[in-house]
Amino acid sequence: MASAVPVIDDIAYEDLLVDPYPSFRRMRDIAPAVFVKAANLIVVTRFEDIAKIERDPATYSADNPTSLVNRVMGPTFMRKDGAEHAVGRKAIEPTFRPGTIKEHWAPLFTDICKELIDSFVDAGEANLFPALAAPMASLSLMRMLGFEDVSWQTLALWSQSLIDGAGNYARDAEIDQRAAAAARGVDEAIEAVLDYHRAHPNPSILSSMAHADHPMPIEEIRANIKVIIGGGLNEPRDAILTLALGLLGDPVQRDAVLAKPELWPAALEEAVRWISPIGMYPRRTTRPTDLSGVALAEGTQIGLCVGAANRDERRFAEPDLFDISRPKQSHLGFGAGPHFCAGAWVSRHLVGKIAVPMLFDRLPNLRLREDDAPVIRGWVFRGPVSMPVRWDA
Ligand code: HEM
Repeated sequence: MASAVPVIDDIAYEDLLVDPYPSFRRMRDIAPAVFVKAANLIVVTRFEDIAKIERDPATYSADNPTSLVNRVMGPTFMRKDGAEHAVGRKAIEPTFRPGTIKEHWAPLFTDICKELIDSFVDAGEANLFPALAAPMASLSLMRMLGFEDVSWQTLALWSQSLIDGAGNYARDAEIDQRAAAAARGVDEAIEAVLDYHRAHPNPSILSSMAHADHPMPIEEIRANIKVIIGGGLNEPRDAILTLALGLLGDPVQRDAVLAKPELWPAALEEAVRWISPIGMYPRRTTRPTDLSGVALAEGTQIGLCVGAANRDERRFAEPDLFDISRPKQSHLGFGAGPHFCAGAWVSRHLVGKIAVPMLFDRLPNLRLREDDAPVIRGWVFRGPVSMPVRWDA
């Protein structure tokens, strides 16, 4: 008979934010699913269990009409299953086609990155979070969305405010207000460009959604654009810094990838496995079920902790090490199943082929600062929040 979900009541929330990996190891060792009191959530942390869950969307649904994401952003395809999910996914697919990425987005991203690096290359030192990663991710997403006349800082603020609103389980009024203001800003920015995109088809997401042959209802456009703003900015930003951090922390691996550029794709995958930018995302059981010997009642909310699964020693040898020479093995950093990240290929280009290679190419003898260490935070979303570096200007 399946056993009850064990409770862990001695993990502090701050521990998860600072360094979740020792707690993740404990969770993995205890059971396939554990209730973490500090997070008020049942969390799944083993690789095989999450892979199994993502193969069975009929039992483990992404649909959750009462979720905060829906309250803050509206009804999005990301929180739908089956045909309803497929319609939304199909609407954004043209933007992310490999040919479109290569011919349209890659040259634009290259120009954005060049301009950003030009602006600080002579200084000899910078904090890579505000100087490169945040504006790079924001400006690239802006172009992919099809927004005009919005600053990168505004888009970044909207993104953070929407994410905070979607995670505001304590219903803090100020957080709710900021999320509502961001939602209004996004709606206005859509309004300002939608007719143009409808009249002039182009590779942007708004243009695909507004396409005259199969236009998406405006409420859905608004919700889906918000979910993409919430889910398409932090992750490439964090992946840029994490990949740079992994290489700066190990000169042998850095030299290997600089000598053999064909290693960049493996280095990117390893960065996303090592410190997964999305550490956890939700699912809900549609019926009573047995997850590898643990009983889950119908309607149970669970968090799929891919940040923990990507460090599962049952799957990866020496999982805590950043090692670009690992045998090729799929990870869960981009999710799995029907909701596998729509932006995975574009991120592989943006981060692993453009931003980080250009960073090492343009900044000779790039190194971390011994007097000002990088700071990494988060568990639901995780990445460096500060990364001061020096180079030979
Ligand atoms: C390194 C960068 C990225 C990582 C690690 C990442 C990770 C993920 C993960 C784990 C999911 C699954 C979430 C879930 O099932 O609830 C996801 C979904 C998604 N991602 Fe990404 N993402 C990245 C970049 C991007 C970018 C740049 C975009 C868009 C411009 C994007 C758009 C999406 C969308 C639309 C979904 C929802 C897919 C669906 O529900 O069918 N992602 N991503």
